[in-house]
Amino acid sequence: MSSAKKPRMTVDLGGIRMRNPVNTASGTFGFGSEFEGFFDVAKLGAITCKGCSAKPWDGNPAPRLFETPSGMMNSVGLQNPGIPAMLAQSGAYLSGLAARGCAVIVQAAGHSVEEYVSAVELYEEHAPFAAGIELNISCPNIACGGAAIGSTPEGAAKVVRAVRPHTQRPLVVKMGPVRVQEIAHALEDAGADALSLINTIPAMAIDVSSRRSRLSRPTAGLSGPAIHPIAVRMVWEAHSACSLPLCGIGGIQSGADAAEFILAGATAVSVGTANLYDPSCAVRVARELESWVAEQGADDINDLIGAFTC
Ligand SMILES: Cc1cc2nc3c(=O)[nH]c(=O)nc-3n(C[C@H](O)[C@H](O)[C@H](O)COP(=O)(O)O)c2cc1C
Repeated sequence: MSSAKKPRMTVDLGGIRMRNPVNTASGTFGFGSEFEGFFDVAKLGAITCKGCSAKPWDGNPAPRLFETPSGMMNSVGLQNPGIPAMLAQSGAYLSGLAARGCAVIVQAAGHSVEEYVSAVELYEEHAPFAAGIELNISCPNIACGGAAIGSTPEGAAKVVRAVRPHTQRPLVVKMGPVRVQEIAHALEDAGADALSLINTIPAMAIDVSSRRSRLSRPTAGLSGPAIHPIAVRMVWEAHSACSLPLCGIGGIQSGADAAEFILAGATAVSVGTANLYDPSCAVRVARELESWVAEQGADDINDLIGAFTC
C-alpha cells in the first residue's frame, strides 16, 4: 500500500455500520453531548449511551466510586432517569448525531426479562435514530437483573429470545467476565447480532481502619487499565467460541490497546474509564488505530481482525 493512501476503517458490527471501529463504553460517555466541547463526537464510529430502564432507577447510595492503582471501582447501580425522560432530554441531540454519521447505540437495562422487553419496546417505538440496541445483562452492581441474569448461558439466552421478536434492529449483548465461551455460544444461538465484552469485574476494597467497604456495597465493578489484559483474553476466547462480531472493551487508553482487541478478534472497540480522565481519548484512539493499520501495511482494518498469532 502506498504511504499516501489511507486504509479503509469502516466496519460492520452485526448490522451497525461504523465509519471507524471506535465506540464508547456505556456509562462512561453520558449521552454524548457532554463531550462535544472537547471534540467532534461525530468523528467516532459509534457511541453507546448510558444504560436506561423503562422506569427511572435511583442507583446505589454514595460512595459509589473508588480509585485503585491502574483502575477504578464503581457501584453506580445503573442510576438513570428512565427511557422516556432520557429521550425527551437527549433524543434530538442523538438523532442529529446519527444524521452526522455516528452510529448511536442505546442500552437497555432491566431487573427481569419482562423489564428488558419493556425497555426494548420503548426504544423501538421512540428512538428511530438508534442503529442498534445493546442489552446490559452484566451489570455487577444491581441486586437483580444485570449479572444476576446474564451469568449463565440459560439466563443470557432467555433475555435475547424474549426481546428478539420486539425489534428488527441489531441486538448487541454486553457480557460480563464469566463463562465467556459458553455464554457467547448461547447468545449466538438465541439470535444476538453482536457481543460486547467485558463489563466491569467484581472486586472489593476495604478501609482497614474502619473495617468498612470503601463503597456503599461490599463489592463493586473494577474497570480501567488493570482489566485490559483480562479483557483481551476474553475477546480472544469469545472469538474462538462463536462467529458473531465482537466489540472489545476494557482499559483502552491508546490505539495500541485498541489494536490488541482487533488482533484478538474484535471488529470494534469501546473506550470506557479513560473518557473520565481524558475526555478526548476516544477520538485520539481512532486516529492512532488508523496509523497502526497503515503501519501494518494493510489496506483495510477488517483484514487484521483476529490476525493474532502466537
Ligand atoms: C462509572 C461507570 C459507569 C458504568 N455504567 C455502565 C452502564 O450503564 N452499562 C454498562 O453496560 N456498563 C457500564 N459500565 C462499564 C463500562 O461500560 C465498561 O464495560 C467497563 O468500564 C470496562 O471498560 P473500561 O475499562 O474501558 O472502563 C460503567 C463503567 C463505569 C466506570
